[in-house]
Amino acid sequence: MILIVDFGSQTAHLIGRRLRQIGSQTTYSTPEDAIKDIKKHKPNGIIFSGGPSSVYDTDAPTISKDIFKLGIPILGICYGWQLMAHLLGAKIKNTSKEYGPEDITLNAAAKTSQIFKNFPKKTFSVIVSHGDTVMTLPKGFTSLGETKTATYSAVENVKDNLYAIQFHPEAYHTSYGLDILRNFAKICNETLDPLSLDPKRIIQQIKETVGDQKVICAVSGGVDSTVAAFLIAKAIGKNLIPVYVESGLMRQGTKDYVKKIFGQLVRVNPVIIDAQKRFIKELKGITDSEQKRKTIGRLYVEIFQEVAKEHKDAKFLGQGTIYSDVIESKGSKHASHIKSHHNVGGLPKDMHLLLLEPLRDFYKDEVREIGREAGLPEDVIMQQPFPGPGYAVRIIGEVTPERLEKEKQADMIVVEEIKRAGLYEKLFQCFSIMTGAYSTAVKGDARVFAEVIAIRAYESVDIMTSQWADIPYTVLQKISARIVNEVPDISRVVYDITTKPPATMEWE
Ligand code: XMP
Repeated sequence: MILIVDFGSQTAHLIGRRLRQIGSQTTYSTPEDAIKDIKKHKPNGIIFSGGPSSVYDTDAPTISKDIFKLGIPILGICYGWQLMAHLLGAKIKNTSKEYGPEDITLNAAAKTSQIFKNFPKKTFSVIVSHGDTVMTLPKGFTSLGETKTATYSAVENVKDNLYAIQFHPEAYHTSYGLDILRNFAKICNETLDPLSLDPKRIIQQIKETVGDQKVICAVSGGVDSTVAAFLIAKAIGKNLIPVYVESGLMRQGTKDYVKKIFGQLVRVNPVIIDAQKRFIKELKGITDSEQKRKTIGRLYVEIFQEVAKEHKDAKFLGQGTIYSDVIESKGSKHASHIKSHHNVGGLPKDMHLLLLEPLRDFYKDEVREIGREAGLPEDVIMQQPFPGPGYAVRIIGEVTPERLEKEKQADMIVVEEIKRAGLYEKLFQCFSIMTGAYSTAVKGDARVFAEVIAIRAYESVDIMTSQWADIPYTVLQKISARIVNEVPDISRVVYDITTKPPATMEWE
């Protein structure tokens, strides 16, 4: 196993992702708990992630120097390298902020370095993101390569098993990033054994864990909970009780599609709770987005508890938790706050249900692959993500039945036209927003003052960042024309061309 010490980098989760891709086991720790966790997990290697701080900041995260005496190979990345250098007596300087691709050129010493073993090129492009630079080499270190702005961009101290790079090997656009991590894993003598995506293995594990007990499982129609419940159903059949709460806030047709998947494909009829009126009633008058999220989360939990009471014989709670949720909810003291994304994540402990999370070890694309192998239809597994609070966070201001209906119609048009243009699977998400802004339009012969709808469509690899999509004008034109003609009382349609950061993907 390789232990990643998270110093608050937005891409720390990608380090684990990349290591798992090459077949290494990983675990995360915080700078404060690292020594304790190393004793517990006995990792073969340690990675210091990047982070937003400068080593000279008063509250900069740091780590005990004892870690260098353990003899375990350490790879420092960006801030991880700056901190390593600082703790070992080197000088760090605050330089201008560099972000984006840079060329690194390896020197003669890199030819014999295990980190750059079998590298096909001397100069290659890497992603950098730093405001500080290491100015002097700590004792015992050798420089292996430099970029225009950082003399010590790749270094090693073989005797003490320390390696470091000023760039991000985990970033998708760093060339040979995976090779660097693989070489480091080899230095650590880590056994590389890629995770199996065979659904039969997961189904067998569920059978062994659950035996002839019952499992109750909240399904939302989204990819993760559908794949999880589907595998559980394949393992235990009618002992699964899938529960779908129809809040009225989910994508159109979700209820029927949940019924179809479970009823037809695995012959387990889901329990459908029609709670639309209850949700609309509780949302009345609420305009603040966090209050909406809290109200919806609370209602889901209450309703789910009511259903669970009727199924007292259930011993397990099945959930579609995936690996990125595990990392996000563990959180990092030093990374910025990440929203809670689970509608029934906050179930009270006194429900006495054991958690069953068959997808806990897998990333989204792996979950899709498992679902595909297990026989779920392509349109189910390739669905775009949809927020737990649903359309409520895409209606700025109060969620009234009328505005909800308009949002659903407009969103359906967006998705239909994007699919028709063959763009749906290329986008991370695309949707409409009831903006709460009003403008004038002339409909028939009358001037009306009606709501403005915005369209958001973007690409993203890591969720942390996104780029608005360059949708052809003809497609935007079609979407706009259909919305103003088919959805009542909409005055105009605008296209959101803002990247994340600074704008988040959702408007609320
Ligand atoms: P933001 O708006 O933070 O969204 O850039 C990032 C991703 O998270 C989804 N999202 C949510 N999902 N509950 C969820 O289950 C939420 O409250 C929530 N808010 C945002 C969003 O759709 C995007 O995929």
